[in-house]
Amino acid sequence: MPRRVFMRSSLRFLVTAGTISVAWLTSVQSAGGQARRAEQTAQEQKLQMAEDVFTNVQLLKGIPVKEFMGTMGFFSAATGMNCTQCHVEESGGSWARYADDTPLKQTARRMIVMMNAINRTYFGGRRVVTCYSCHRGITRPEVIPDLALQYGEPMLREPDEIFQQASGVPSADQILDKYIQALGGAQRVATLTSFVAKGNHQGYDDFEKYPVDVYAKAPGQRTTIVHGDSGDSTTTYNGRAGWVAAPDTATPVPVLPLTGDDLAGAKVEAALSFPAQVKQALSDWRVGPPTTIDDRDVLVVQGKTGAGRPPVKLYFDVDSGLLVRLVRYTDTLVGRIPTQIDYADYRDVSGIKMAFKWTTTWTNGRSVTELTSVQINAPVDAAAFAQPARPAPPSKK
Ligand code: HEC
Ligand code: HEC
Repeated sequence: MPRRVFMRSSLRFLVTAGTISVAWLTSVQSAGGQARRAEQTAQEQKLQMAEDVFTNVQLLKGIPVKEFMGTMGFFSAATGMNCTQCHVEESGGSWARYADDTPLKQTARRMIVMMNAINRTYFGGRRVVTCYSCHRGITRPEVIPDLALQYGEPMLREPDEIFQQASGVPSADQILDKYIQALGGAQRVATLTSFVAKGNHQGYDDFEKYPVDVYAKAPGQRTTIVHGDSGDSTTTYNGRAGWVAAPDTATPVPVLPLTGDDLAGAKVEAALSFPAQVKQALSDWRVGPPTTIDDRDVLVVQGKTGAGRPPVKLYFDVDSGLLVRLVRYTDTLVGRIPTQIDYADYRDVSGIKMAFKWTTTWTNGRSVTELTSVQINAPVDAAAFAQPARPAPPSKK
C-alpha cells in the first residue's frame, strides 16, 4: 500500500474542515423577532449538515459539510489511503457514488466506534487516541518495533502544541518586532491599507497553472479567486464571515460557509495580510524551542485565536527575521488536521517586503501560488468580499 496520498485532481480545492462554533449556536438560539428568525433560517440553510447533503451517513452526523469533508481528509492522512481506495473507483467521477458501501468503509465505521470507546473508557472522553495514533499514515498498523528506526538517526518531530515558553529564546514581542523591522519598519508597514495582486496557482496534481487574483483590505478582509478550467474557486473572509466556493468537480456543495477553526483561520490569514497588526491577530503568545526548516534556523511563535481553540504557529527565519511558515489546525470529529502555508520570494513593494510565493499544504492537497504583480493601497470594491455565488462554468473553453 503506498504511503503517499495521491488525491484526485478534482479534490485539490477542498479546504480543511471546521467545527460549528458555540458562539454561533448561542447567538442563533437567543435571537428573537421576525427579522432575526428570517436571518436565522437563512443561516441554517447555508450551514448544511452532512446528513442533509449525503445519503449514507451513519455516524458522522450533526457536523457541517465542510467539517465532514475534513474528517475524510483526516482518514486519508491517517491511513495513507486516497479517497477512491476506501470508496469505490467510480466515486472519482461522481459524488453520489461515495455513498456506496465497501468493506473498507465498513471497517472505517467500526474503527470510529472503537476509537470513541477507547477514549471514553480509558481517557475520560478526551480525544487522545485518533486514527493517526495507530495508523501513522499506513493502512494496516505495524505490530513489530523497527530496529532500523530504533538505531537510526532520531527523527525530530515537532510538538503539536507549545505548552510553555521555551528557555533561552527571545520573547514573542522581540521576534514580532524584528519581523516588522525586516518588512520595512513599523512606520512603513502601517501605511499598507489594501492590495490587489495577480499571479498564478498550481494544484498538487495540476499540469497547468491557473490565474489567481487576491484582494485584501485592512484591517482584515481577504479574497482569493483561482480561475480554474472548470470554474472559479473562491475563498473569502469579509471581516466577520467567510466562505469557500468551488466548481462541482471540487466540492459536493458549491458554496460552503466557513465555521469554527476554519473561520478563525481565515480571519488570521486575512489579518496577517497587514503585518502592522500581527500582535493583535492572536493572543496567548509563546515561543517554542529553536528548530530548522530546510537547514535554516527558525523560531516558532505560537498564538491562539481564542480560548479553547487550537494554536496557530508562526515560524520566523532567525537570520532574515521574515515569516517563512504558518501552521494552523482545524478540529474535526475524529481528530485535528493541520494546514501549512510556506512563504517565500519576499520582494520589495514600495518599501514593504511582501511574500510573492506561498505553498499551502493540507490533508486533501497542496497548491503553490506565485504572484506576478502587487498593487498596494489600490481601491478595493466592497463587492470583492461579498459571499461568492455558485461558480459559473468558465466562459472560454
Ligand atoms: C479509510 C476510509 C475512508 C477514506 C480514506 C475516505 N472516506 Fe469518505 N467515507 C468513509 C466512511 C466510513 C463514510 C461514512 C461515514 C458515516 O457513515 O458516518 C464516508 C462517507 C463519505 C461521503 C458521504 C457519501 C454519502 O453520500 O453518504 C463522501 C462524500 C466521502 N466519504 C468523500 C470522501 C473523500 C472526498 C475522501 C478523500 C479525501 C474520502 N471520502 C476518504 C470512509 C473513508
Ligand atoms: C487502537 C488502534 C487503532 C485506531 C485508533 C484505529 N485503527 Fe484502524 N486498524 C487498526 C488495526 C490494528 C487494523 C488492522 C486490523 C487487521 O489486521 O485485521 C486496522 C485496520 C483498519 C482498516 C482496514 C485496513 C485493511 O486493509 O483491511 C481501516 C480502513 C481502518 N483501520 C481505518 C481506521 C480509521 C478511519 C480510524 C479512525 C476513525 C482507525 N482506523 C483507527 C488499529 C486502529
